[in-house]
Amino acid sequence: MSSKIARIDLVSSHPEVYEPCDDSFALVDALLSDRTNLLDFHPRLCMEVGCGSGYVITSLALMLGQETTGVHYIATDINPHALQVTSETLKAHGVHAELIQADIASGLEKRMAGLVDVIVVNPPYVPTPEDEVGQEGIASTWAGGENGRRVIDRILPVADRLLSHKGWLYMLFLTSNNPSEICLQMKDKGFSARIIVQRATEEENLLVIKFWRDSPVQADTNGMVTTTKTEPFMAMGSLGSLFSRLSFWRSDNSSC
Ligand SMILES: C[S@@+](CC[C@H](N)C(=O)[O-])C[C@H]1O[C@@H](n2cnc3c(N)ncnc32)[C@H](O)[C@@H]1O
Repeated sequence: MSSKIARIDLVSSHPEVYEPCDDSFALVDALLSDRTNLLDFHPRLCMEVGCGSGYVITSLALMLGQETTGVHYIATDINPHALQVTSETLKAHGVHAELIQADIASGLEKRMAGLVDVIVVNPPYVPTPEDEVGQEGIASTWAGGENGRRVIDRILPVADRLLSHKGWLYMLFLTSNNPSEICLQMKDKGFSARIIVQRATEEENLLVIKFWRDSPVQADTNGMVTTTKTEPFMAMGSLGSLFSRLSFWRSDNSSC
């Protein structure tokens, strides 16, 4: 299997599992556009939260390789059907990931704290009534409550705890999620941010943001602690002005 991303015709499905859609494609495009950096980075452990059909984690595994590169992949989803579908999608592409049914990463946080190099998330982000969040059925795959932030705001602190000192988070947002505020909150936790992909579809205004710790702490061979910058720092002011320039973006409650 030489393709760098998952083939749609090999992605499995189930009536209660989110099918790859514009947001899934935007996230995979973001990973593809950052692939050279990802390969240079040599991540050991990559994780997807909310894997759905498995399209994204399978694409990541195809992009970065597996046996030869020694990268380990983990994917979680709260929906057991999603794990079954992801398992079929991975198998159809000849790649492997550890699949765990979990609310975000519950039960994994102790084992994996500070160990994950790359986290990718296409969360339930659509603004909906609060009571639609977390319900059984397909609506729970996109229902995000007020401003679409109910699940997003729970994922960010978990990502902070799981990411290694040099770790990267790629997360998809809708403009109505108020991503500039999210970037400021992440800045308070010591993260820089950069928009990797921005896309206005007929129904949604999407962007994928990459977060990384501004000055990751590293211990050298003598145990001395030093700080390094993995990428040039992008001031949040730059992001703020970028968001304000994208004034054509509109708030939208619809999904695929
Ligand atoms: C928008 S879909 C994205 C699916 C897939 N990653 C993609 O991009 O096509 C969001 C996924 O997150 C899962 N999800 C929702 N709430 C979750 C939670 N609290 N913990 C883990 N997964 C969750 C849903 O079941 C769904 O599969």
